[in-house]
Amino acid sequence: MSTPTLDQADTTATDAATITATFRIRRFNPEVSAEALWEDFTIEIDPKERVLDALHKIKWELDGTLTFRRSCAHGICGSDAMRINGRNRLACKTLIKDINPEKPITVEAIKGLTVLKDLVVDMEPFFQAYRDVMPFLVANGNEPTRERLQSAEDRERFDDTTKCILCAACTSSCPIYWNDGQYFGPAAIVNAHRFIFDSRDDAGEQRLEILNDKDGVWRCRTTFNCTDACPRGIEVTKAIQEVKRALITRRF
Ligand code: SF4
Ligand code: F3S
Ligand code: FES
Repeated sequence: MSTPTLDQADTTATDAATITATFRIRRFNPEVSAEALWEDFTIEIDPKERVLDALHKIKWELDGTLTFRRSCAHGICGSDAMRINGRNRLACKTLIKDINPEKPITVEAIKGLTVLKDLVVDMEPFFQAYRDVMPFLVANGNEPTRERLQSAEDRERFDDTTKCILCAACTSSCPIYWNDGQYFGPAAIVNAHRFIFDSRDDAGEQRLEILNDKDGVWRCRTTFNCTDACPRGIEVTKAIQEVKRALITRRF
């Protein structure tokens, strides 16, 4: 018997690592039917691959009409949040081996936003709430000739909320948001927090008033779904509580 070449040996190792996995995907195409339906796709895949890799394999090899958003594939752009086995996650950060591939893996669009096609939702209401909280530095007067200085302690105050990638996993896991979609939602509050507690910013009061609205922070019922869903590990509920406290004490 001849000794396998390096290439042959690699191929054998890769094949041995694959499993057969079924992805049960909630499909919706308004041009075909008003009803969404579940469709199964069974593929051979290395369980160390990510759900995004499986979706690519399905799209490129089985059904080119499967529609989903993705860009960076590395947990940075926030475009591929979806419900995987009933939980909001980023497809590019979810390893197949970690989500029980012995059973069909369900994949569906995030909740609370209108589904446009398959796994793609209309993000406009989400981004409108984000825009409404003024997610940018407002600094009045005393224009510095160099950068605006800040102590390490002051920077630490809002460090956690700078990590948001606007994936909507938090907002679309919040039962209050599912209710009527009018609530600003945790992502908008996280991004308000990022500036309210920035010592260089001068619009904290303004942002607090915006969130004092009937659809603002007071609608949060401390459910913690948002914190559990955040792929960046942001303590979302804690940030919301800090904004509520700042509204009461007017200290931030
Ligand atoms: Fe995504 Fe977390 Fe930002 Fe919410 S707070 S949008 S879950 S990164
Ligand atoms: Fe919703 Fe998070 Fe509050 S899930 S109710 S925003 S703690
Ligand atoms: Fe960019 Fe997943 S594709 S976060």
